[in-house]
Amino acid sequence: MRMNLDGQLALVAGVADDQGFGWSIAKALHAAGAKVILACWPPAMGILTKSLDRGKLDMTLPGLSEERTEFKIEKIYALDAVYDSMDFVPEDIRTSKRYQDVGDFTIQGLKKRIKEDFGDGALTIAVHSLANGPEVQKPLLETSREGYLAANSASSYSFVSMVREFSPIMRKNGSFLCLSYLASEKVIPGYGGGMSSAKAALESDTRVLAYEAGQEYGHRVNSISAGALASRAARSIGEINKMIDFGAKRAPLKSALAPKEVGSAAAFLCSDLASGITGINLYVDKGMHAMGLCPEGGL
Ligand SMILES: NC(=O)c1ccc[n+]([C@@H]2O[C@H](COP(=O)([O-])OP(=O)(O)OC[C@H]3O[C@@H](n4cnc5c(N)ncnc54)[C@H](O)[C@@H]3O)[C@@H](O)[C@H]2O)c1
Repeated sequence: MRMNLDGQLALVAGVADDQGFGWSIAKALHAAGAKVILACWPPAMGILTKSLDRGKLDMTLPGLSEERTEFKIEKIYALDAVYDSMDFVPEDIRTSKRYQDVGDFTIQGLKKRIKEDFGDGALTIAVHSLANGPEVQKPLLETSREGYLAANSASSYSFVSMVREFSPIMRKNGSFLCLSYLASEKVIPGYGGGMSSAKAALESDTRVLAYEAGQEYGHRVNSISAGALASRAARSIGEINKMIDFGAKRAPLKSALAPKEVGSAAAFLCSDLASGITGINLYVDKGMHAMGLCPEGGL
């Protein structure tokens, strides 16, 4: 039995460099046989395309396949997942330099472009690997209504919108995946601004979407609760190194989490090997979630 994604088209939304989970997931999906398209937040598009042009990104593939050794990206699209359609985009964003010349960067725009470029029913996998909480450094008690709603709009409603919009253009029995974090269910000081609430919503929505998209389309919807990683987004939290050190000292498995471990778990969940799995939250965190009391204190 082999993980085989030959003939599949996978979208990974939320990639701007090779440091985060999205990149590792995209590489694992490609290594297993899928064609991969990426969606990148318009303000980060320049970083991604320049790094690719200059050969600065790690294109080596994990050893899931002997035939494929280098990561090939079919196409990169702009996506701001806070907007469902251009009707909702405020004037200052529309006219901002970073949003001009990238085409329709909304979720519906991306759907239309994928359909035009690859055909109706070509997409089989969609991964949501994005989050944004403008007040993430503030404790919940100090978070404004605006900051809280912005975190939930970018980090959880965006997944609901993606599943709604992409489901009809996806081949039957497709697979959706999103990325969550332990802060959804345990208190993680420093993970503020409503981001913990956004992750709790994301996990709950995963279950409801699994039911609804499963009934209507046969699609599967799952989440991965990943351990801490010093990605670009996580570095903006400020406390990320503390979270990584805490896990390294106290998790059942002592080695630091490698993003490729999340990549291979994601490829498995999106493959036929997981055809009976939907509505789950899979922990890929070296076992950190299982701890109640740690020998060195904490938790
Ligand atoms: N790094 C961690 O410790 C950790 C742990 C568990 C879960 N996660 C989750 O993994 C996912 C990927 O994050 P990462 O840590 O790999 O960081 P990352 O910086 O690689 O990815 C986050 C991406 O989100 C994009 N983004 C932000 N706002 C957006 C918007 N409105 N529309 C479209 N894209 C937008 C950013 O440009 C970035 O590419 C996120 O959901 C994150 O919450 C991260």
